[in-house]
Amino acid sequence: MERKDFIEQVGLSGAAILIFGCMQSCSKSDGPGTNTNTGGGTGGGGGNTSTVDFTIDISKSPFDALKNIGGFYVDPATNIIIVKTTASEIIAVSSICTHQQASITYQANNNRFYCAAHGSVFATTGAVTTGPATTALKKYQTSLTGTMLRVFA
Ligand code: FES
Repeated sequence: MERKDFIEQVGLSGAAILIFGCMQSCSKSDGPGTNTNTGGGTGGGGGNTSTVDFTIDISKSPFDALKNIGGFYVDPATNIIIVKTTASEIIAVSSICTHQQASITYQANNNRFYCAAHGSVFATTGAVTTGPATTALKKYQTSLTGTMLRVFA
């Protein structure tokens, strides 16, 4: 075999190996984005279903902030913010801004929800009071029995 022929054959084989290797690695990396969220959280309110129904004990940390007026807790499993707005009222709304899905916070001094991303303001009913958001926050039902607070749709 001539030197030139040898180099051509090795070159073709090497290229074939590279292409084959690339195809294998590309096909293996196409689907890593599966959602493994089991929705555990604080009482099973999360997951992939739209049903929200969980109970927390507001006498225990981290929920004990809800014993004080102006105190709030954001449930990471459901993205619901729960707020004690008055001595007799605890409310729950979605903590995700309806404008571009940033997280909202509760402002106790104004008794309202605020999104720092673009300045939207929401009333405790969930209604938009200042844009750019145009859609209200989803509001959930709450029911307090003793220190057990149920949050549900
Ligand atoms: S994401 Fe909340 S105002 Fe834009």
